[in-house]
Amino acid sequence: MTFNPLKEKGMPIEKQLRNWHQIVAKPYKKQKVDCYTRTRQILMNGIEVEGWGFKHQLNRFVPDIECEDRANISRIGRIENQQQMTCNWMCPEDQSVLETTLGYEQVAVDLTAWLAQNEPDKYVKETFDFGLLEDFDHLYRYAQYAYMREGIEPNDIVQGQTDVIVGRPTQHHHNCNGLRLRKHYDKATASPQTKVNILTVLSGEQQTHNFYAEHGFMYGDHVLRETYAEIKDVEEEHVTMYESLIDPSETMFEKLLLHEFTEVCNYYTCLEDEVDDEIKKYWEIFLDIELGHLQMAAEMFKKYEKRDPEEVIGSDIIIPCRFKSQKAYVQKVLEKEVNKRLAPDGKYYNSMDEIPDDWASYPVQERVAEISSPSENCINVVEFYHDRDVVEASENLKNKEASLLEKGLQKKAAASNTVYPDKLQEMIDKHKERKKEKDKII
Ligand SMILES: [Fe+2]
Ligand SMILES: [Fe+2]
Ligand SMILES: [Fe+2]
Ligand SMILES: [Fe+2]
Repeated sequence: MTFNPLKEKGMPIEKQLRNWHQIVAKPYKKQKVDCYTRTRQILMNGIEVEGWGFKHQLNRFVPDIECEDRANISRIGRIENQQQMTCNWMCPEDQSVLETTLGYEQVAVDLTAWLAQNEPDKYVKETFDFGLLEDFDHLYRYAQYAYMREGIEPNDIVQGQTDVIVGRPTQHHHNCNGLRLRKHYDKATASPQTKVNILTVLSGEQQTHNFYAEHGFMYGDHVLRETYAEIKDVEEEHVTMYESLIDPSETMFEKLLLHEFTEVCNYYTCLEDEVDDEIKKYWEIFLDIELGHLQMAAEMFKKYEKRDPEEVIGSDIIIPCRFKSQKAYVQKVLEKEVNKRLAPDGKYYNSMDEIPDDWASYPVQERVAEISSPSENCINVVEFYHDRDVVEASENLKNKEASLLEKGLQKKAAASNTVYPDKLQEMIDKHKERKKEKDKII
């Protein structure tokens, strides 16, 4: 079935203002919510934050816009602001910061894996695969704290849909800024799918960064606070990386069109996939609202750019956020690319031997971890609680954990508190022995 968003009128802007009761939705129950309802809620909050912020950038930086159009841009921004509250505040008060954090990283893993497999541009796909393995490791690091501090098993949140095991070690995610910059697409030839895919993941990563910025201090545990700081800094790199894929010569009205189209496509997908009937109603209303925004953006694009919106967004809907289990795909990328690193000119090093001694990321990594790496500390600490790290994966993948770590670890610029593969294997073996003893007693 084809659906051409440009042919839909959507809800007129005059009808989009909602009252406080409508804005503040009833939160879901954390014990009952489907994990992919939570990931949709988290992602759509990020999409709305980006949509809201962009309207302000547009009005701040673009001269020569007629008063009525400027007022309409700010009207749309206000509606994005209302939608953002609805999406974000579906989160219940008893869902802890760490539980929500696991939700954020599940978004990053399963969304990026979906996008990588539905990305027509090979280079952009490669970048998605690269970022994927970093968020995959964040999920693993935070899962240790969720267990230690709150007794949360990873599956309480990810519900068996996403593996939780070591990825590319977080201590190696810190790069020279110049290396994070990738090559951008050409706006004239890139497909609408590529543009929507990038804007979707970028919005998610930006909001992950914002969430850690606003919540990382909410625990008293200093090592956990430092871990939030470390991972937040990687999310900042992810924002840099994904935004660098966008052609910077796109005009602001072209970007406005793409933002509204991205919102339409995401709500369209949410509406198709949602299993919670109450939340589905919001996706339906919000799709209608976004179709109204898209109409206005298309009109402004025609007026100021004298171009046809179809040249930019095409004539069909795109599916940017189909949340479903991506374990097989992620495992494949993990085993193949855990040792990949960023190279100059938007290239990659495909193995450790390719990295030169004067790699620009080494001084960054040495500086930030000169005392120790918090994300390594969490594995050192969890040993006292659980004898080994907390993991959720098939036996087959679990058995490969130490060798994955061996492949993913750098020799140079590794922190002094690094957990090396032989140490990890020792922990795993000790856990096995202790489990046998415990089982005898029970
Ligand atoms: Fe919106
Ligand atoms: Fe992450
Ligand atoms: Fe990320
Ligand atoms: Fe919008």
